Amino acid sequence: MSFSYVSHLYCPKCENTYSVEEKNQLCQCGSPLLVAYKMDELKEIFKQENLLERKADLWRYHELLPVQDADNVVTLGEGFTPMIHLKKTGKDMDIPNLYMKDEGMIPSGTFKSRGAAVGVSKAKEVGVKELAMPTNGNAGAAWSLYCAQADIISTVVMPVNAPEITRKECAAAGASLYLVNGLIGDAGKIVGQAVKDYNLFDASTLKEPYRIEGKKTMGFEIAEQFGWEVPDVILYPTGGGVGLIGIYKALQELQELGWIAKDKMPRLVAVQAEGCAPIVKAWEDGKSSAEPWEDAETVACGINVANALGDFLILDVIKQTEGCAISVSDKILLEELSTVASEDGAFVCPEGAAAFAAARKLREDSWIKQDDRVVVLNTGAGMKYPDTVDVNVPILEVEERIVR
Ligand SMILES: Cc1ncc(COP(=O)(O)O)c(C=O)c1O
Ligand SMILES: [Zn+2]
Repeated sequence: MSFSYVSHLYCPKCENTYSVEEKNQLCQCGSPLLVAYKMDELKEIFKQENLLERKADLWRYHELLPVQDADNVVTLGEGFTPMIHLKKTGKDMDIPNLYMKDEGMIPSGTFKSRGAAVGVSKAKEVGVKELAMPTNGNAGAAWSLYCAQADIISTVVMPVNAPEITRKECAAAGASLYLVNGLIGDAGKIVGQAVKDYNLFDASTLKEPYRIEGKKTMGFEIAEQFGWEVPDVILYPTGGGVGLIGIYKALQELQELGWIAKDKMPRLVAVQAEGCAPIVKAWEDGKSSAEPWEDAETVACGINVANALGDFLILDVIKQTEGCAISVSDKILLEELSTVASEDGAFVCPEGAAAFAAARKLREDSWIKQDDRVVVLNTGAGMKYPDTVDVNVPILEVEERIVR
């Protein structure tokens, strides 16, 4: 048995193929590349029982990951995050089967570690020595940390208003960090130039094909955690949309293996903030690609992506799964953040809070039915965003007592 059954890279636009043995970025037509596996072979030899004695991390699905030599795996134990039934929040929203997949439990505190673990491992395998990436903070932090373990030099550019803790993670990991007075798109332009100037590997979202493979493991886990039965709805806070595209890809692969039923896909929901909702606008206008969003702004930094390279893939996933795209205001998502914390004790990130707020809205509109099993991806730990909650409390002198 091989560690990986990866086959090749293919272009979803022009169907060109590429080797997984070499450093690859975009297709020559400009589209992101996707990873294909030897599914016919896998169908024969890969069974659900194989997973039983494996570790509870994302590498338990190594046959369906692109790293060919186990020695190249760079890991901090990421994956297999809890799936939690949020009974009180669910009751409050009239969604009794409301679940949270809590990605805040992962090393570096966000699901970005999944993409980084697989992306950096594969970069190491194909001989990358130095890479660069733009980020809204969390991905840069995760990639810097995994690069440190892999002995890959990293250059990271992030907006000045990205969560401050992510700067510190990059700095601690020894990355070359730059802040830009602008948005992630501006950081992307600076990285693009540096990539040319210094011949670096470009690890920007979807410009390398393997980050999505790491993120798709959320889809494997959701299916496995429900006993290989998929939920009815999955809500995902969408910036570049890699997680959404990845979850769909994972579920398609599981269908091909015959591990989940072919006749049921969850309806996938792309959640954005009202201050940056290019995918929602395109979806509402019935378009298959999105226009860049002007003056993007939201407290949910991770989904502040004005122009996603994979827009056409995100919109296709929504269409194929009969899902939808929806935006919520910062005010509403911050209120929802407090609701989930005060009802079920989960201190979620603002991006995750946006997805909870969207679930509430979609239930009110009856798009979510009362008996639907609904999974919200909380993509990160609330602790990475200490400023999302305003706290005004009394300060006592040492001799004072509490008066109620
Ligand atoms: C906490 C958090 N949630 C969601 C996202 C959006 O991820 P994606 O690019 O997969 O849409 C990000 C991206 O930075 C993030 O940091
Ligand atoms: Zn192409």
